[in-house]
Amino acid sequence: MLDNIKKLLDEVQAQSPDSKEKLEEFRLKYIAKKGAVTELFKEFKNVAPEMRKEFGQKLNELKKAAEEKFYSVKEELENQGGSSDIAIDLTAPGEPFPVGSRHPVSIVRNEIVEIFAKIGFTISEGPEIEDDWHNFTALNFPEEHPARDMQDTFFIAKNPDIAIRTHTSSVQVRVMEAGKPPFRTISPGRVFRNEAISARSHCIFHQVEGLYIDENVSFADLKQTLLYFAREFFTEDTEIRLRPSYFPFTEPSAEMDVSCQICKGEGCRVCKYTGWVEILGCGMVDPNVLENCGIDSKKCSGYAFGMGVERPTMLKYGINDIRLFFENDVRFLKQFSSAL
Ligand code: DAH
Repeated sequence: MLDNIKKLLDEVQAQSPDSKEKLEEFRLKYIAKKGAVTELFKEFKNVAPEMRKEFGQKLNELKKAAEEKFYSVKEELENQGGSSDIAIDLTAPGEPFPVGSRHPVSIVRNEIVEIFAKIGFTISEGPEIEDDWHNFTALNFPEEHPARDMQDTFFIAKNPDIAIRTHTSSVQVRVMEAGKPPFRTISPGRVFRNEAISARSHCIFHQVEGLYIDENVSFADLKQTLLYFAREFFTEDTEIRLRPSYFPFTEPSAEMDVSCQICKGEGCRVCKYTGWVEILGCGMVDPNVLENCGIDSKKCSGYAFGMGVERPTMLKYGINDIRLFFENDVRFLKQFSSAL
């Protein structure tokens, strides 16, 4: 009997269950109701009276050893997070948090902003809901100009006329009204036109407006700045071409084409076999606009330009449908990564 207790004590001391399951086996084998230690207690009544004291002591020693082992291993396993449902292993790596990616239009807008920032252009912003003065009148739009029609413009209210802006040129006016020349600024933003939606045009799109006003600013400054931009944005060998055009707020006005990035001037579907792709409108700010904004047109002159963001983005990434930009389909959006 005593030998049996000694054997069990050695056994208990030699064990170190290393999992929740093994610890449970240990408990069942020794200290549970039908475990070895409990069974030995039941045999206590059969022990000869003179042996009882020693037997009792040894048995208690065994019981204590088995229980201590059980509770200390239990605590150890819990601390490791292995045996309790609520235990947390603080050293485990965190759950990865899914991050999205920049919208392709934002990537390209940021790129445009950075290129102009390098040559000293600051950023200005204006409201998307604009009054007639800032969107049209101050910019020298004649009363009968088609942009003022319901077909082109989303009016929110009439008399006084309030619209969601049709271009970012309205920000030029706000900048000039608010400060004193020189101005050298660009204004990225969202614009709205009442147009049928197709693969090539949308009623919502983005523009970046540029404005440079100082003394003695010439058309040559405009041309050189735009050439710098085109070569930074596209490739070093990109050519530009300025075609005479008309805008109410510039005189003279021009439209700028860049040599086709797809066919390099050979002629393809993107450039409609001309070798050139139009990307912006520009010109020398009309003296009427300067005067409308409180600037002395005899002292100051300047240039302005405005470009869409969607078209260069489509050229850059080979996207053939403008509607994809506004559908927010993550399968489309996650294809464009850039440093955030
Ligand atoms: N606002 C014009 C448009 O939306 C673009 C534009 C053309 C802006 C010439 C200008 C400019 O600043 O000088 O079509």
